[in-house]
Amino acid sequence: MVNDGRDNSYTHLGENGHPSPWLEKQQSGNRKSKILLVGALVGIVAIIAIGVGVGVSLSNKNRTKSSGNTPNNNGTSGDNTTTPVQQENPNDPSTFKKDSRLKQSFYGLAYSPNGVIYPDCGAKLPDVITDIQLMSQLTKRIRLYGSDCDLSHLVMEAIKQTKVDMKVTLGIYVSPDGDYTAYDRQKVAITDVLKKYGTDHVAGITVGNEEQNLTRDYSPRAIFFHYLNDHGGTDANGAVGNQGADLLIVNITDTRNLLKGLELSIPVGNSDAGSYFNTKVLQAVDYGMANVHPWFANTTVQNGPQWTWDFFEQTDVAAANALSNKPEMSIAEVGWPTASKDAGNANNGASPASEENLQYFIDNFVCQSNQKGIKYFFFEFFDEKWKDDTFGGVEGHWGLFYQNKTLKGITIPNCPI
Ligand SMILES: *[C@@H]1O[C@H](CO)[C@@H](O)[C@H](O)[C@H]1NC(C)=O
Ligand SMILES: *[C@@H]1O[C@H](CO)[C@@H](O)[C@H](O)[C@H]1NC(C)=O
Ligand SMILES: *[C@@H]1O[C@H](CO)[C@@H](O)[C@H](O)[C@H]1NC(C)=O
Ligand SMILES: *[C@@H]1O[C@H](CO)[C@@H](O)[C@H](O)[C@H]1NC(C)=O
Ligand SMILES: *[C@@H]1O[C@H](CO)[C@@H](O)[C@H](O)[C@H]1NC(C)=O
Ligand SMILES: *[C@@H]1O[C@H](CO)[C@@H](O)[C@H](O)[C@H]1NC(C)=O
Repeated sequence: MVNDGRDNSYTHLGENGHPSPWLEKQQSGNRKSKILLVGALVGIVAIIAIGVGVGVSLSNKNRTKSSGNTPNNNGTSGDNTTTPVQQENPNDPSTFKKDSRLKQSFYGLAYSPNGVIYPDCGAKLPDVITDIQLMSQLTKRIRLYGSDCDLSHLVMEAIKQTKVDMKVTLGIYVSPDGDYTAYDRQKVAITDVLKKYGTDHVAGITVGNEEQNLTRDYSPRAIFFHYLNDHGGTDANGAVGNQGADLLIVNITDTRNLLKGLELSIPVGNSDAGSYFNTKVLQAVDYGMANVHPWFANTTVQNGPQWTWDFFEQTDVAAANALSNKPEMSIAEVGWPTASKDAGNANNGASPASEENLQYFIDNFVCQSNQKGIKYFFFEFFDEKWKDDTFGGVEGHWGLFYQNKTLKGITIPNCPI
């Protein structure tokens, strides 16, 4: 069985931030063998810690161009969040100053802002505006993981106000923690957003990520894990997997009907671990997004780019091309961590988590993938504090930027796409 390998430690964290029993089991031990079993992954919406703690005041010291202490909240946020992006006109987010270190070289970025874990929420427009200002200098595409906590609305409003060229793959995660209202809640949010903002900046709607509640056996992936745990099985296309697929497809079909009702033509997709796509699900979608993580597959960073391309082509693209609907496949997450909360986990891969290695990976993956025409969402925009707090290890250290939205010690290659 192929290992596309993502340590799953937060895979089954519901979008509302509550870890599954599976997760707890994993955390209490046996981590490495689980890492081998489990595949790529991820996905989650959000961040528990909110604005106040995370917004962080920044000084100019480490930045060459556009940084500063200029509050960017336009008087709307009420907290003391400051940002590293300056605006010519503090009231006009479209007048932000560009940072010459940033290049639009990434096909896409994976993005979760602070404050989108339901029901805590707390995400604020000024923060999201800053994120969009920064990300728009790196890419024209971002993907979201869900639509709770007004996330889709905030992102669309930020794009509108910043006037950037950005397409968003919206997300609806499916019922973590047996919360059947999750789908409906997000459906309402997405409907509102489509009505209010139209589809100019919408690339697609991804229904279902991998963080479904195992107990409910919803998605092929969740079923896969469940089955693995109980029976040591590995087949996302087995009977149990197909049962889960049927459930997920109910929501996928519902989203299609929603769009039909609105007379909108937007691709509908699914996101999952690279090795666990279920055929029935792939047949039901226009696109599939696969997490492919060389770090968790224990490849060296030197082998990371080639391993990623090989895995993606041989597993995901091949599976999709074998179907008559030929869903378009992209890499939903790929990256390299730069640090670990504890020293041990920084070195448990074949190459350490470090900024040097992130640089190596970027230098050998980004422009090369662009040239090959491979679609990928680099994981991820910035370090997610809640993951560091909740899971430790490398989980909170995948960003191109630190939590405070300062660019890490990396150089962005220049190969605009
Ligand atoms: C941002 O965070 C990083 C990592 O913690 C730190 O090294 C850097 O000094 C911070 N930058 C600013 C401007 O506060
Ligand atoms: C913001 O700063 C003011 C003045 O320093 C302080 O009184 C207030 O408590 C701060 N608000 C937050 C949310 O930190
Ligand atoms: C910022 O202020 C301007 C001018 O008052 C207003 O038009 C705009 O909607 C505000 N933006 C936000 C994020 O509230
Ligand atoms: C998963 O769903 C079941 C049934 O709704 C629920 O009893 C259980 O608590 C949920 N698991 C988690 C981790 O929330
Ligand atoms: C979405 O899927 C969940 C889980 O199978 C199901 O309970 C719910 O009824 C579905 N909702 C719609 C509108 O498809
Ligand atoms: C990962 O690779 C390193 C270096 O080759 C090796 O020492 C380690 O045992 C591997 N870990 C796993 C879980 O395979």
